[in-house]
Amino acid sequence: MAELPEIEFTITNAQLDTGLRGYPVGTCETSYVDPEEGVSYVGYPIADLAFMPAEDIIYLLFNKALPSAEEKAAFTADIAERSPVPEEVFAALRAMPMSGHPMDLFAAAIQILGMAGKTEDFYDDALNLVARMPATLAAIFRLREGWGELIPSEPERGYVANFVHMLGMPGGDVEALTRLLSVYYVLHADHGGGNLSTFTGRAVASGLADMYRSMASAMNGLAGPRHGMANQDCFFMVRELNTTDVEAAAEKLRSRMANRELIYGFGHAVLRQEDPRAQVQLQVGEELCPDDHWFNVVKTVREAGIRVLKENPKVQNPYPNVDLVSGSLINALGFTDPDYYTTLFGWSRIAGIGAQIVDERTRARDGRGVAIYRPRYIPINQAPRSV
Ligand code: MLT
Repeated sequence: MAELPEIEFTITNAQLDTGLRGYPVGTCETSYVDPEEGVSYVGYPIADLAFMPAEDIIYLLFNKALPSAEEKAAFTADIAERSPVPEEVFAALRAMPMSGHPMDLFAAAIQILGMAGKTEDFYDDALNLVARMPATLAAIFRLREGWGELIPSEPERGYVANFVHMLGMPGGDVEALTRLLSVYYVLHADHGGGNLSTFTGRAVASGLADMYRSMASAMNGLAGPRHGMANQDCFFMVRELNTTDVEAAAEKLRSRMANRELIYGFGHAVLRQEDPRAQVQLQVGEELCPDDHWFNVVKTVREAGIRVLKENPKVQNPYPNVDLVSGSLINALGFTDPDYYTTLFGWSRIAGIGAQIVDERTRARDGRGVAIYRPRYIPINQAPRSV
């Protein structure tokens, strides 16, 4: 039985209809979000992991320890062996309406991958999905952008480098893209059990829907502007603000607030300090694109946003979150259409959600797995009536 602190919880009426905010519902072995320190994966602070290869982090999330050299070699070979995507998946992607949003293509592609070969074993399906996502996501980009034939996979390049290779972005700087996407992947891979997409994936899997169905549901959860799609909307907001003058940015943010428009890239349900994932991305921006206009707008918005949000006593966390900086970095390296940004988040989050579903289905409650989710809703406005 896992180590569990003895805690008593009371739920009050005031907590109803608050989106389960902070309610303890289960356990998580892969990651923890500390309000002051931010996320750690299996006890390692995210800033210490950020520049490690994606393979190490995927291994960590699934195995709860960083790999030794031999373990890493075996794991990398395993991922490579699992990675071929059945041709019928690409054929189905080719037939999809390319006017659709990339996140819709992405969630649909996960279900199609399931149709083309699921094992019904949560662990195998999770790793197969992780292994097959680079080629699948690269295909979504190439087909939707009309970049020509799909590029054959070369898994020996490494997990993220192979994605960049298969993406074949016209004019893309392969080395810089690999550096950025590698850090991006690690930063977005997991964020505790209670974020909406992970919770959704775990809930759907609790009904014993398989990994692909559960993951597609999770990705549809990620595709909301209050969750993963905030990275796309944040960059639209940054473009609209378009200033490197802190005073001007502050004024524009104040008028957004007065108009009840969302201020993307700030605040968080759990965090009460600046998200360390934002800080790492600022560091990466200074390394890869210090003179980029939009990166500098983001730095301006960061300063102005903290100031403006602190003016409002109701704001619990006036600090930047993971979405503030990411758009400017990927834009600087050639991903100029923000509609794609959430697919990159989703690609990475599949590892964390996959690992958490495996844990919940195969390790929790001494291997019996968590029961089907069935919280209670309090009936209101339902006095007995007769017809
Ligand atoms: C995430 O990474 O999932 C977001 O920060 C949202 C959350 O943790 O609730």
